[in-house]
Amino acid sequence: MTGRTFLDVGCGSGLFSLAALRMGARVRSFDYDPDSVRAAEELRQEFAPHGDWSIQRASILDADFVQELDQADIVYSWGVLHHTGNLWAAMEATCGLVAPGGKLYLSIYNDQGTESRIWMSVKRRYNTSGDVTRRLLIAGSLLYLGRHYPLSVARRLARRVRGSATGTLPRRRGMSRSHDLVDWVGGYPFEVAAPEQIFSFCRERGFELRYLKTCKGGIGCNEFLFTRGSTNGG
Ligand SMILES: C[S@@+](CC[C@H](N)C(=O)[O-])C[C@H]1O[C@@H](n2cnc3c(N)ncnc32)[C@H](O)[C@@H]1O
Repeated sequence: MTGRTFLDVGCGSGLFSLAALRMGARVRSFDYDPDSVRAAEELRQEFAPHGDWSIQRASILDADFVQELDQADIVYSWGVLHHTGNLWAAMEATCGLVAPGGKLYLSIYNDQGTESRIWMSVKRRYNTSGDVTRRLLIAGSLLYLGRHYPLSVARRLARRVRGSATGTLPRRRGMSRSHDLVDWVGGYPFEVAAPEQIFSFCRERGFELRYLKTCKGGIGCNEFLFTRGSTNGG
């Protein structure tokens, strides 16, 4: 990574940008959400105040902004493009930001067919509903997601009914379980793609798949590492 340019598309809290910086990359990050940008700026202030790291508020769907960006050696976008409201336009813009010979790392929600369509309508409903419907959607989603672990779900529901804070405690890594559930049910816009769709889209643009980690057909993201051909045409 030393000396390479690293572009973090939808950087969120900036954690991955910080990791790239610590590995020696020159980092440019942007995110559409002002709170995420603030979080990334705080992270930079605390852990890398003098690092070669710029952070901006911008959208990957903003063609004027994207046109101004330099292509990067490594373009990284974890769990972002399916939340933009236009996955394929975001994919097109992101692919165009990879320098010839560079790497593209993507993580995109898996297409589970009917199940994904149902989640899409649950998420849309959650975002247009009041408090009572939201609670019902959260409880229903918990029951569905935990259907193979009935005892643990029963304990969690009982805690929710009692208003206990246990489920809101941070885990060793990442969000609390309760925050994670709201993040999933409320995470909208939401789009999905089958691994072969991402593969074909990138191959048509001159990318070669180097590594693939699927979520085994289940819920969650498939992760892809591509390299771009050494000329801009592929
Ligand atoms: C699930 S978070 C992932 C954040 C980060 N990549 C990570 O892995 O921690 C999705 C991020 O995509 C950002 N996002 C959504 N639409 C975007 C857009 N059009 N342009 C840039 N970022 C966007 C959100 O604001 C959010 O921070």
